Amino acid sequence: MRRTRWWILALLALTLLLVACSKTAPQNTMNPHGPTAQTEKNLLVLVLWPAAAVFLVVEGGILLISIRLRHRKDRDRMPPQIHGNTRLEIGWTIAPAIVLAVIMVPTVSTIWQLARQPADAMQITVEGYQWWWGFRYTDPDMAVNYGDHDAIVTADVLVIPTGRTIDLSLTSLGGGAHSTAGVPDHQVIHSFWAPQLFGKQDVIPGETNHIVFSADDPGIYSGQCAEFCGLQHGKMKFRIRALDEADWQRWVANEKSPSVQPNDGLAQQGMDLFLGVNGVGGQCIQCHAVGGTDAAGTAAPNLTHFAAATHECFAGCDFESFLNGNPNAADLKAWLADPNAVKLGAKMPDYGLTEQQIDALVAYLYSLT
Ligand code: CUA
Repeated sequence: MRRTRWWILALLALTLLLVACSKTAPQNTMNPHGPTAQTEKNLLVLVLWPAAAVFLVVEGGILLISIRLRHRKDRDRMPPQIHGNTRLEIGWTIAPAIVLAVIMVPTVSTIWQLARQPADAMQITVEGYQWWWGFRYTDPDMAVNYGDHDAIVTADVLVIPTGRTIDLSLTSLGGGAHSTAGVPDHQVIHSFWAPQLFGKQDVIPGETNHIVFSADDPGIYSGQCAEFCGLQHGKMKFRIRALDEADWQRWVANEKSPSVQPNDGLAQQGMDLFLGVNGVGGQCIQCHAVGGTDAAGTAAPNLTHFAAATHECFAGCDFESFLNGNPNAADLKAWLADPNAVKLGAKMPDYGLTEQQIDALVAYLYSLT
């Protein structure tokens, strides 16, 4: 008996400890920062109370019966064996049906409410790859001002204006480094989830699902893939950065511009290597794009503004782009030297770059503001 008590105490202590694990909890559903997350939280809380009542009645009943009707030492015969009780059975069939019917009303109306796609919403396509997220701003006024006037394309960080309704079209794309003849491979199911702004939505090859949401306040909201999608599912993260109107306009103007031409010697070497001029290098552009250059690959993150302040993480937000405001060259070098060593299974190949080549590429990438 003493032992059991200790076990119970230990379990309680462990539970309390685990609850205390996270102080900041950036992915807390109970701390919504936009109307979609707020609506979902309201429904969750609404359903929580009837669920808690049902839990108490059922578990309390089990406890009560187990204690009152437990085996006693002096009992020498079986208690009467009963089969069937029509009244009771009708009761426990009808009661849950009523509870479910009541819960169904707000649930279904919430589903309808969240499925509405306002015509004036900003359209952004979310592309799930193994294992990073790409974002394509498809509204006509979000076209870049160079080349073929294609859409603004970013990776890892979804930048949005505060207070504007955003309509995300979710697609799963393959086309990793190993794709052949334009056939997209690595197309798997992902799930897009930023708990403070919206709940999970599956990202399915060949289908287009939608999330309609907006962010109330400027800030950074972290999110991640919520559907097992391969080796690095756990490191398929992203951030949503909501900007106020002035910052948003600045961001859009910068993203619409082509990449900056480096004027530093090392960065220029890196650019040559990246693009494969002088017959050396050129592997990067098979998958990556840099606006305003010949690099137009679509299988890997678009690097046009890799070093913009808002692009604060890279490689599926596995690494910070900046540490205390300075380029995080160390992690980028490690990534370029052997992507699989830092993110096993990554589709980015190891090209056996020399240290000097890596330095040049890092200088080039950090010149792309
Ligand atoms: Cu993508 Cu899990």
